[in-house]
Order: sequence, then C-alpha cells, then structure tokens
Amino acid sequence: MSSNRFKTSNERGEMIAVLSAKGGVGRTFLAVNLAAALIKKNISIGVLDGNFQFGDIGLAMDLQSTFTIKEVIDDLDRLDEFTLASYLCTHDSGVKVLPAPERPEYADLVTPEALNKIIDLMRIQHDYVICDTGSNLDERTIHLIEKADEILVVTNLEMATLKNTKLLLETLAVLGLQDKVQVIVNRATMESVIEATDVPDILGAEEPVYIPNDFQAASQSLNIGIPLVMNQGKTVLAKSIFKLAEQLTSKRDIQTKKTSKRSIFSKIFNRKGGKEESAE
Ligand SMILES: Nc1ncnc2c1ncn2[C@@H]1O[C@H](COP(=O)(O)OP(=O)(O)OP(=O)(O)O)[C@@H](O)[C@H]1O
Ligand SMILES: [Mg+2]
Repeated sequence: MSSNRFKTSNERGEMIAVLSAKGGVGRTFLAVNLAAALIKKNISIGVLDGNFQFGDIGLAMDLQSTFTIKEVIDDLDRLDEFTLASYLCTHDSGVKVLPAPERPEYADLVTPEALNKIIDLMRIQHDYVICDTGSNLDERTIHLIEKADEILVVTNLEMATLKNTKLLLETLAVLGLQDKVQVIVNRATMESVIEATDVPDILGAEEPVYIPNDFQAASQSLNIGIPLVMNQGKTVLAKSIFKLAEQLTSKRDIQTKKTSKRSIFSKIFNRKGGKEESAE
C-alpha cells in the first residue's frame, strides 16, 4: 500500500493525535474516518488507540483482533518493526491498527518508554500514524501529544465543551505545543445558541476546520463498525473528512517540498563551505 510520497524507508511517518477536552465529542469517529480517508490516497496508515482505558477503535472499525497494545508490551524486549507489524490488525481498508487493551486496568502497563518504542516503530512503517486519545490530560496523553506532529483538538458547539476546549488550548500553549494544534469544530451545523462562526473568537483559534452534523450517519457508522468514508462517501459529512485529509496531506506536501529545497540549498552551501575551508 505504501508509496514513497512522503518518506523514504529510513524517515519517520507523521503522527496525528486526536484530542479533546471532553468525552463524546467525536474523537473516535474522526480518527477512524480520517484514517480510512487518508488510505484512499494510496499511502500507508497506522492507527494507535491511545484511549488506553476505554478505547473503542476496535468497535468503530469492527476488528476481530486477538492482539492489543498489552501483548505488544509483554513482548517489548524483542520488539522491532517486523514483530510489531505481526501484532497489528489489518482493517478492510488496509489501515493497520493497534487496539487498546481489553481491560481498563491494563492501561497502567503502558509506560512512556513502551509508548516511545511502539510509536517510533509504527512511524517507520507508515506515512501517517493516527492516534485516538482519552479525554483526560493524563501523563500518557501528554506523552502522546508531545510526540505528535499535529494535534487535532476536537470541540463542538456546547458551552461546556467550548469552555473546556479553551482551557485545553491554554494548557497546550503552556506546554509549548500550540503550533501543532488544529481545532476541529465537530457537528458544526448542529442547533445551538452558539454559532459555528463564533468559535474562532471564543477559542482564539484562527482557522478551525468545520465538520457538519449528521448524527444518523455518524452513529450508524460507529455502530456497524464501517467508517462512513468507505460506504457513504457522497454524504456531506464524508466529504468534509476527505477535505480534512486533503488539507493535511497538502500541508505536508508543501513542507516536504520546502525541506527538499532547503536540503539542496544546504548541499550547495556545504560545498561552498568545504571549498572555503580547503582554500584556507
Ligand atoms: N459529525 C457528527 N455528526 C453527528 N454526530 C456525530 C458526529 N461525530 C460524532 N458523532 C456522534 O457523537 C457520538 C460520540 O462520538 P465518538 O464516540 O466518536 O466520540 P468520542 O469523543 O470518541 O467519545 P469517548 O469519549 O466515549 O471516547 C457518537 O454517537 C457519534 O455518532
Ligand atoms: Mg472514543
């Protein structure tokens, strides 16, 4: 599945963490649909269920996996990219998934060291690693978002969610992570006293991405375990997720081009430097 559009074999894939200040705002829905939308671009996609206590990626993608992150951690000492690959569950779309443990108490086994190793290996094998997270800003979630290249902060138009999202954004700024943040207003067309267009002012977020409200399609998709971008691609909701996927890849295309331009310049610069050095 993998093309070399973004990375050569020794470069790392980009990690996207899906975060929110409140539960039930659509993190899992967006994570699985974004993954299934991105893989249509013929790039390789991994999904890590980072909601280690109550992860529901397995349900949302109807996975029949025997392995979870717990088994991977049990095998951590001999883990390399090949053994990790054998633990990943392949979804019908081609997305490779590492589900959350079966029981909440196993979440304690997920140490920062284990996470580092697992994420680094997943990045070697995939162009993107999408990571769903829990709704608590605990040690593990902070570790995940620090490792991420992009943090999608999901909110909706409810007052309590917006209040907490503002606090979350302030906290991310304190942690120095604000440059990685993209705010997503999910269910943006839902009936609410707050208009979607008020969100940039309320949150101080310049260009949020708006995802429309379609509860029937979203909940049916989660319940049957088929990402709606796969079987309802013509809906406005699916189209908005394809657009988000496009936005993320084109941003990276631009960065990749900039980096390769810079490396050409630095090669020229280094050569000059070499000449100057040898002239001395
Ligand atoms: N764009 C949308 N339009 C309408 N309903 C949506 C939309 N996105 C998600 N939902 C609905 O919101 C509910 C919560 O979604 P989801 O489980 O993805 O949230 P979550 O943030 O992962 O929750 P949790 O905190 O339980 O992990 C589901 O019933 C889902 O169908
Ligand atoms: Mg969830």
